[in-house]
Amino acid sequence: MTTLLADPYYSESNAVFRRATNQTEVMLDRLADHARDRGRITILSVGSGVGLFELPMLTRLGEEGITVARFVGVDPSAHANAVLGRKLADPGNEALDFELVATPFETYDTEARFDMVLFNHVFEYLAGDPLTWVGKSLGLLADGGNVLLFSPNRGGINQIYQDVFAELVGAPPLFADDIEVMLDGSGIAFSMESMMATCDVSALQQLGEDPEKLMLLSFLTQRDCRDVASEVREHYVEYYLSLRQPGRNSIPHPVTLFVM
Ligand SMILES: C[S@@+](CC[C@H](N)C(=O)[O-])C[C@H]1O[C@@H](n2cnc3c(N)ncnc32)[C@H](O)[C@@H]1O
Repeated sequence: MTTLLADPYYSESNAVFRRATNQTEVMLDRLADHARDRGRITILSVGSGVGLFELPMLTRLGEEGITVARFVGVDPSAHANAVLGRKLADPGNEALDFELVATPFETYDTEARFDMVLFNHVFEYLAGDPLTWVGKSLGLLADGGNVLLFSPNRGGINQIYQDVFAELVGAPPLFADDIEVMLDGSGIAFSMESMMATCDVSALQQLGEDPEKLMLLSFLTQRDCRDVASEVREHYVEYYLSLRQPGRNSIPHPVTLFVM
């Protein structure tokens, strides 16, 4: 049976994808803007994964002179936590007070309060009513803290992911426009900003079953494309290449930031 992309291939594919997109840099710029006037910050990252966003974030905050007084990652993937744990224990991070909790956010419980609760492309994985998880995050904030929620935009680069997710999970994923409607009706104060980034899809021009091509394609679609019929796979490739801007190897990769 075909399933959504799962570890360890998920994390390997995520690494290829993150090298192809500049979305992380765009997001880090904005995140740094939110952290800059604090000087010292505690962070809870929901769905911290192998830290492909979180590790550059810690580096960037350090470069900005912002001390991360504590970092907590919550992710149900034991594989992801083990990988991130090793990286956080690397020389260079020894001063960091961190904890990784192998549980879904839905069942995570703590007395701690955080200056920032971060969701990076994770909201759509949470089971049940999304507003419950916004409420839970707001309850985990220290005075003056913020929830930062990065969410994918509908269509374009995310169209096939939307179809695959709906087919395999039985319901469509949440996109930024869904979250906006949900927050609008909730009475929760929030701001939102759509940011433009690009994703280099040159690897998709490789022939046949090139490993980097399959990993990029798998992450973009969230389906393990090693198991997908070659005609379906090449149809996916054609779709992404059709999104290229004239004379470029990159396609638009927008993301929306909600701040609460
Ligand atoms: C797209 S990845 C993002 C990883 C990381 N934040 C990054 O940007 O590199 C989504 C992560 O959410 C995690 N996840 C899935 N369901 C979750 C849940 N119920 N609670 C917390 N994390 C979850 C997955 O294991 C995965 O590591």
